[in-house]
Parts: sequence; C-alpha cells; structure tokens
Amino acid sequence: MSEIVVIAVDGPAASGKGTLARRIAAELGYAYLDTGLLYRAIGLELLRDGEDPADAETAAAHAVAFDAATTDFDDPVLRDEETTRAAGIVAANSQVREALVEVQRRFAAAPPGGAPGAVLDGRDIGTVICPEADHKIFVDADIQVRADRRVKELQDRGVESIPSRVLQDMKERDERDRTRSVAPLAPAADASVIDTTNLNADAAFAEAMSIIR
Ligand code: DC
Repeated sequence: MSEIVVIAVDGPAASGKGTLARRIAAELGYAYLDTGLLYRAIGLELLRDGEDPADAETAAAHAVAFDAATTDFDDPVLRDEETTRAAGIVAANSQVREALVEVQRRFAAAPPGGAPGAVLDGRDIGTVICPEADHKIFVDADIQVRADRRVKELQDRGVESIPSRVLQDMKERDERDRTRSVAPLAPAADASVIDTTNLNADAAFAEAMSIIR
C-alpha cells in the first residue's frame, strides 16, 4: 500500500484556512477534517448537558467518551457564538486535547473512504498532531480583515453583529489561542505561511497548490 499523504493547514480564526483546506482536499481527492469541530462538538455536548465547559474534569470525561461516529458535524448550532466560546474554553484543557489526539491521528493515518491522503485544519496540526505531515501550511491575515470577514459571514447567515464587538472577541480568542500553555497557535518551523490579507480564495488556493506540487 502506498503512503498516505498528510497536509496540515493551521491558522487563526477567519484566516481562510477552512475554505482553503476543503478545496485542497477536493482537488486532490483527499479526506478532510475540520478539527475545530471536535472542540466545538465537545463544548456543545457540555452546554446541552447543562455542564460548565470550564469544569476541567467533566470536560475531560466528555472528551474521553467522545464518539465522532455519532456526532452530527453539520449541526449549525456548532457555529453559534455560545458554542464557539465553549469550544475555546475546552480547547485550553490539556486533558481534552490529549483525548482528541488519537481521533485526529487515526484520521490522518487511515483516511475514511480509503482516500490516498488527508487534509486536517486546525491550530496545532503541524506542530503537535501531525509533526511529520508531508506539507504544512500556516494561513494568516491581518486581524481587522479577519474580523470583517467574520461579520460578513454572520451577515450571510442572517445573523446581526456589532463589528467592534466581533473584532474585540477575535482579539481575545487570538490571545487565548496563542498564549495557552498547551499546543498554542503558532506556525511550525517548517510551515509555509500564506498571508491572505490581500489574497482572495482563488489566489490563496493557487499559492497552496504551488507549495504542495
Ligand atoms: O477553528 P474553529 O474556530 O472551529 O475552532 C474552535 C476552537 O477550537 C477555537 O477556540 C480554537 C480551538 N482549536 C484548537 O485549539 N485546536 C485545533 N486543532 C482546532 C481548533
């Protein structure tokens, strides 16, 4: 059997990494995993069970018992602000992260559907989950541009938002993602950085494919 090709796509919120990773996977016929959804799913489970996401032991127990097969990753509630906040809290819990390492590595080692490769997007794929990935891309963009994108995305979903508040939330989330003690958001030393501040989705995709090929 030939080697599975693994592509790690990391970056902060609204950098364009999800769109890019999904497109790379479609282009190459690889399986795609949005790892942020794992943290979101656990945050949502806790909220639905009436638990406090900041309760480290309970969050860890949910992560250990987590079953991707019975989780509806298309549930739009996973994208809600409340779920997003809960996801940020559980993502800073080292026991939760540890419990999710194997789920992600298994996906990379044996992509579903027998795909010849896997694209994983997240914050720590190139640094912690798949340090041996064949390709590592770190997608970044100016924070104001990312906040503007998030406002537009919410608008497209019919959700009203206050731009200054979205920017402030994003600054706080960035700060938490970059400074947490476990698996902080950072480009791997051997990652190629794509700055999408002035790049549209097509240009970012072209740059990524030239890096991969
Ligand atoms: O990418 P996202 O917004 O769906 O991620 C949700 C939360 O999970 C966010 O706070 C960052 C965190 N996350 C993480 O810590 N590690 C990952 N590999 C993916 C997401």
